[in-house]
This record gives sequence, C-alpha cells and structure tokens, in this order.
Amino acid sequence: MAKILQRERLVPNIHLIEVHAPEIAQKSKPGQFVIIMPDEKGERIPLTIADWDKEKGSVTSVFMVVGTSTHKLSLVEAESEVPVFVGPLGKPSEIKKYGTVLLAGGCFGIAAIYPIARALKEKGNKIITLLDVKANYLLYWEERLRAVSDQFFVSSRDSYYNCKDYIPKTLQNIIKKGSKINRVISIGCTYLMYTCSEATKPYGIETSVSLNPIMVDGTGMCGACRVTVDGRTKFACVDGPDFNGHLVDWEELFSRRKSYFDDEIQSLCHWEKNNFPR
Ligand SMILES: Cc1cc2nc3c(=O)[nH]c(=O)nc-3n(C[C@H](O)[C@H](O)[C@H](O)COP(=O)(O)OP(=O)(O)OC[C@H]3O[C@@H](n4cnc5c(N)ncnc54)[C@H](O)[C@@H]3O)c2cc1C
Ligand code: FES
Repeated sequence: MAKILQRERLVPNIHLIEVHAPEIAQKSKPGQFVIIMPDEKGERIPLTIADWDKEKGSVTSVFMVVGTSTHKLSLVEAESEVPVFVGPLGKPSEIKKYGTVLLAGGCFGIAAIYPIARALKEKGNKIITLLDVKANYLLYWEERLRAVSDQFFVSSRDSYYNCKDYIPKTLQNIIKKGSKINRVISIGCTYLMYTCSEATKPYGIETSVSLNPIMVDGTGMCGACRVTVDGRTKFACVDGPDFNGHLVDWEELFSRRKSYFDDEIQSLCHWEKNNFPR
C-alpha cells in the first residue's frame, strides 16, 4: 500500500497526485514512469513521473481523466492509500549536452516534460518550451516551466498566448525563424507526438517521443506494450518509453491503442452508473 499525500485538480480534467514512495523517489530519473492501481478491483495504469522529492520521500504524477481508472484516481483523497504503486520503470530519458533543445508538451505531457527540461537545463542546454492547450484556462505549471526555459511559447486555440495553431505548425514556424534546434522532445497524446515528429522530419531534427501504448505489467513480461520502431519489435516499458519519433510505426500504435475501446467505454458507463446514479 502507498499513502496519497496530495491529490489536486490542476485544471479541468487534469489532476496532480503526490504519493509517499521514498524508495522510488531516491531512484527516479527524468522520463521514467510508475504503475499505479487506484483500488483493489482496478487495473494497473502507467503514469510518467513528473517530479519527486528525495527528502520528503514523495513522487508526483499528473494525469488526464480519460476512462475508469483515471476517473477513480481523480477521486482519491489525501491520507488514503492505493494498493499498487511501483517504479521507477522504463529507461530514463537521455540527458546530454545537445545545444538547443525544444520540448513540446500537451495535456499531461506539460508536466511530463518538466523534469526533462530541468535536467537538460542543468546540463547546459538552451531550452525552448512549447506547450499546447485548447484554451488559456487549461495551462498549468507555467511558472515551473518558465523557470527552466530560455524561450517559452504557448499555442492556445483561443489566441490567448503567442499563437493559436496546433503545435506542429508553431513548431515549424519556430524552426523556420532560424532558431538552430539540435533536438526536439515531444510528450503528450499519441497524435501530438506523431504530428510533431512529422513536422521535424523535413528538417532532419532528431525527435524523441515518449510512447504510450497500453501497458499491463510494465516489466517486459506480458507483451501488451509492443511497438515497432525502425522495423523492429520493442516493448515500450523496458526498451522505452522514449524512442526516435521518425522511426515509430505510428499506424500500428494508433490501432493497438484502440484494441479495448468498446470495453473501456462499457467499463466507464458501468462505473458512472454505479457511482453517479441519476
Ligand atoms: C509510459 C506511459 C506513461 C504515461 N504517462 C501518463 C501520464 O503521466 N499522465 C496521463 O494522464 N496518462 C499517462 N499515460 C496514459 C495513461 O496510462 C492512460 O491514459 C490510462 O491508462 C487510461 O486509463 P483509464 O482506465 O482511465 O482509461 P481507459 O478507458 O482504460 O483508456 C482510455 C485510453 O487510454 C489508453 N490506455 C488504456 N489503458 C492503458 C494502459 N494500461 N496503459 C497505457 N494506455 C492505456 C487507451 O488506449 C485508451 O485510448 C501514460 C502511458 C504510458 C504507457
Ligand atoms: S507492459 Fe507488459 S511487456 Fe510492457
């Protein structure tokens, strides 16, 4: 059992969860993830480690409410416990001196890029942060990200910030303006990572993505997270989750993520009926 220290709604549909997990906090590195089970009857779901505090012994993730498990997680209270919280899992992101690194994040990826941006900044890289939100009130962790960024852009459909285009167009505009970018790191929904990878391809800028296939055990045993990268089979939980976005078989990933769509909808309807009866 792991104790919840904090659960807070950051913006509509996106929550932060801080869990007491001293051993995980000691070992966590940027780009790694945890697996959490919201209750005894629930499923195991992977969440990226968005921050950790070694002294307090805590690990923080930020999640978007999409289905049954994330709905359940959005209702857990501080001081309660979750039955499973394991990690850190996956290979850490590569933190090197690249030069200029552009980090592109959307939805939960805004938090997921934070520890990577911080570590790359500490390594002496110039950091350009580009965030994508549908509207200004969906932006969170702005101050944290600004603090580790040399340049900071927000693409918001309501034109509230610098630009309103969907993130790949803004990314291309930044590249075209002549900024020499040595590496792009994109984290968020699958479509965002796919389109960012497509946007950088013509410019030959290596683009790292954090793949989010369905996972079960998170230790390379079940095969649920199989992806194809550069024509080879990989298991995102142990070989990733970071991969070169230009080499990912995106069509296969989109298709495999939909495998349980009908069951997921049924599960959510069933859960809502039992928990919010009309
Ligand atoms: C390495 C990794 C890190 C992730 N980090 C985050 C994060 O920091 N924040 C966040 O909000 N989300 C993250 N995700 C996605 C998150 O795990 C899913 O949104 C979550 O499992 C959905 O569960 P659900 O029951 O609420 O929704 P469901 O109804 O089960 O599914 C809704 C959608 O989520 C996908 N999904 C379902 N089960 C899984 C699963 N076990 N693993 C991965 N995807 C699944 C499905 O393809 C579906 O499209 C990450 C996924 C991976 C693989
Ligand atoms: S989640 Fe089972 S092999 Fe990756």
